Formats: sequence, structure tokens, C-alpha cells
Amino acid sequence: MSRAKRKMDHIEHALNSSSSQLSSMHDISFVHQALPDLDVDDVSLNTQIGELFISSPIFINAMTGGGGKATEKINRQLAQVANVFHIPMAVGSQMAAIKNEKEQQSYKVVRQYHPRGLVFANVGSEATVEQAEFCVDLLEADAIQIHLNVIQELVMPEGDRSFSGALKRIEQIASHVKVPVIAKEVGFGMSQESVKQLIDAGVQVIDVGGRGGTNFSWIENQRRNLPYDFFEDWGITTAASIAEAVSVSKHIPVLASGGIKNASDMTKSIALGAQSAGMAGQILKWLKDDGLDKTIQHLDRQLDEMRSMMTALGASSIEELQQVPLIIRGDTHHWLNERGII
Ligand code: FNR
Repeated sequence: MSRAKRKMDHIEHALNSSSSQLSSMHDISFVHQALPDLDVDDVSLNTQIGELFISSPIFINAMTGGGGKATEKINRQLAQVANVFHIPMAVGSQMAAIKNEKEQQSYKVVRQYHPRGLVFANVGSEATVEQAEFCVDLLEADAIQIHLNVIQELVMPEGDRSFSGALKRIEQIASHVKVPVIAKEVGFGMSQESVKQLIDAGVQVIDVGGRGGTNFSWIENQRRNLPYDFFEDWGITTAASIAEAVSVSKHIPVLASGGIKNASDMTKSIALGAQSAGMAGQILKWLKDDGLDKTIQHLDRQLDEMRSMMTALGASSIEELQQVPLIIRGDTHHWLNERGII
């Protein structure tokens, strides 16, 4: 199967997936404060991902590129959304651009439509230093994501079977590229152990990519009409992953992603300790179902709702939101207790 066909298959199945899993964010509750002593206009959504300053704590996570005009159009629309809100946007894996010059435009369109905004390059952990540098240069990127997708590869019959040496290659990329390195999962989450290894290897930012949203095991099983659910319930949920990552050190910038769909998910992620939340599948669905203008309206509403929630909590900034008391219930409580995190 060609790479371009696989990319379009992934988009198709991601659009058709309706996650039956209850989001781990249902395990998180805020403690209502009847006297927040704050005005909506006093709330600032400014945040920071390491050395990068951003006006809203949301970003568009890696999805596509490398599938000709169809993926170029998706990347153009995503870049238009990012440009309206001045939020960062990541492109999908740039391996196609490395291998085929003709595919470069489907990525470069992001810089064209988000000219002064933050753009994240994206490679897998198989990339060499030269390939990573090439991907950064192609987009004049402000950071580079290195995706970790062992389970996705294992589920694909044509996927990789060799995962040794990944940390060493990540370390080499981190010590050579001129921009911050973000290590990201793609929906199976991050443990304390992995976060420690990545930080020791020189990675500056962790995107937890937790379980609860786009599920690549489900997507791959659907593509082959497998009658059983190989690896579908694997992984660490987004809520648990954020707590795992934050528990390693309060100073590591942590990004929340995996099933982020609305203001409540974003606000809870940040209260758990993340600096910003990333959306992939949800924004793709909005674009497909409702078009570009409505997608912009949806995102605008989520940011407004987030401001309202922060007002209700008496949190005027992202730092204050990270300090509000939380009640953690259910599976997430059990997980964090077993892991000695709470
Ligand atoms: C992805 N994701 C992804 N991640 C990555 O690092 N490189 C990639 O090329 C892709 N490709 C891709 C295609 C499609 C169609 C989707 C929906 C997702 C993973 C994505 O960035 C994110 O980590 C997961 O999708 C979890 O977030 P959501 O979708 O639950 O918000």
C-alpha cells in the first residue's frame, strides 16, 4: 500500500471513529468556589511552552502532509485556523517530504498560511540528525516534534518491528537541532519512566499523547476489518499521563493531548499541570463536518468557555489554574495511587 493511500485511510478512519471510551477527564472535578473575586476580563490565557510564548493554551497537533493535494488542503485549512488564533500548529510526519520532493508543498503550505506563527516540524524516532534539520528548515519551524508510535507500528502488518536505538537517535537530534525538541506519543500516553529517559536525552518538552481520543489500534484494525481488537485498550489515559509527566519534575513543560475536545478538557488538563492542550482528531472532524468558518467559531467558543471556567475558579492566569484544588476519582485515582503519584 502506498504511503499517500495510508495517510488518506488514516484521515478517513479518524473521521469515522466515535470514541466509546469515557474520557479520563470525567475522573477530574473542580471544587466550586462561590466567591471567585475575579472578572472575566481579568483572565489571561497567555502561556509558555519552554521558551515559546503563546496567547492561548491550545495548539493544533500533528496530522498530515505527504498525500498530495488532499493533504495540502487540510494543512492549509488547519494553518488558517492556527493563524486566526495565533496558536502553534504541527504538521504530520515529514518522512514523505524527505523521500519525495514533490510532496514538500503539502507541508510548506502551513508556513505560507501561518507566516509569523509557531510551526512544529514532525519526524519519527528513526530520523537522522540531517533529516530532522531538513524538516525544520523546510518549514522554518520553531520546534520539532519527534513522535513515538511503537504500538501503531506493531499493529500495522507493514509497520516497523525494530525499535532499538530510538533514545540514542533522539539524543543526537536534541543535541544538534537549533530548535526545542518535543517528544510526543500518538495516543498511548507517557509514563514517568519514559518521561525521565526523554528528558535525560535532552528533550525539552513532553506531549503526553494519551489514551482517550484517536486510537490508532482501532484505526489499523478497522482498515483490515480485523474481527478482534488487537491493542485497542492499551495505553495510559491522558489524565494519568499528564500526572505521570508532571510528577517527574514541575519544571518540564508538559503538553496535554489525546481526546481533547472542548473547554472542559483543556481546563482540566491545565489544572493537572499541563502548559497547553493539543487537538488533532476533533479539529479534523469540525473541518470535515462544518467547514473552516464554523471550525474557527467552535474554537473561539471553547476559548471563551475556558475563560468562564477560569473565572468561576478564581484563576486569572494559567499559573493560577495549575494551582486550583482538584478531586480525582475512579480509574484515574486508582492508577495514580498504584503508581505512587498521589
Ligand atoms: C495523527 N497523529 C500524528 N502524530 C504525529 O506525530 N505524526 C503524524 O503524522 C500523525 N498523523 C496523524 C493523522 C491523523 C489522521 C490523526 C487523527 C492523528 C497523532 C496526533 O498528533 C495525536 O497525537 C493523536 O491523534 C491524539 O490526539 P487526538 O486526535 O485524540 O486529539
